Amino acid sequence: MISVQRLFKAYKMGKENVVHALRGIDMEIDSGEYVAIMGPSGSGKSTFMNIVGCLDRPTEGSYQLAGQDTSRMTDNELSTIRNERIGFIFQTFNLLPRLSALQNVELPLVYRGMPASDRRERAMECLARVGLADRVRHRPTELSGGEQQRVAIARAMAGSPVLILADEPTGNLDSRSGEEIMGAFQDLNNAGITVAVVTHDENIAKHAKRIVRFRDGVVVSDEKVSSRTIATRSDSEAAVAARSDAGAAVAAPVSGGPAEEEAIRS
Ligand SMILES: Nc1ncnc2c1ncn2[C@@H]1O[C@H](COP(=O)(O)OP(=O)(O)OP(=O)(O)O)[C@@H](O)[C@H]1O
Ligand SMILES: [Mg+2]
Repeated sequence: MISVQRLFKAYKMGKENVVHALRGIDMEIDSGEYVAIMGPSGSGKSTFMNIVGCLDRPTEGSYQLAGQDTSRMTDNELSTIRNERIGFIFQTFNLLPRLSALQNVELPLVYRGMPASDRRERAMECLARVGLADRVRHRPTELSGGEQQRVAIARAMAGSPVLILADEPTGNLDSRSGEEIMGAFQDLNNAGITVAVVTHDENIAKHAKRIVRFRDGVVVSDEKVSSRTIATRSDSEAAVAARSDAGAAVAAPVSGGPAEEEAIRS
């Protein structure tokens, strides 16, 4: 799925200063793997994820995604690959505040030109899979941090990616919510999606099948997880049904706003 050889990334800062964020990374990630990426702050984890996610390009080295050499691709081709194959999840959720959970999940499908009724159905299905069927009309500010991150996961899933990349997805969450996020990733991985997660938390990393450690822009260890943690969940259907306000999530109309909101209405 992912094959990275001798990957370097240098950031030029002014005339003399160069930051060598990646200094020769070799890595293979097979289809169906679930990898946690760890390492100290500044070791190059986000830089690596951004390149793997086709959000950035390396200074040197090659990166093949599903057999395709990304260095030969134009920016347009890269963004197409990103939209069709990759789901990204960030520490800060990056949801659009004026849109409902449902509309946030629908948005990538709008950009794909999917008809309104199909995309609504797909978005509902993705929200249900992360245990949020009863929260679809809520806006981000009306959701807990863990719920917001699950909306972001549903949004990442909506386009049926083959690869999910998450950069410290539990960094802003308490351990209980973090555990639910890990449960959602395990479900996705069980469904055949390749997952790579950056984390500083050993307990989070143990939910993966493999842990790769970075230091100063190189890989210093790469190990299979021997006794993997399976996430315990409180967002089972029974738990959702039992939630006191379940079903109360009915349509507050959304107010007007920027281009994204235009897109979702058209
Ligand atoms: N856009 C940029 N311009 C210049 N330097 C950068 C840029 N992005 C990252 N760096 C530098 O590259 C190095 C690696 O940064 P990166 O964000 O990949 O680290 P990280 O492992 O994700 O750290 P953290 O755990 O704190 O998120 C750091 O020294 C950082 O200062
Ligand atoms: Mg980072």
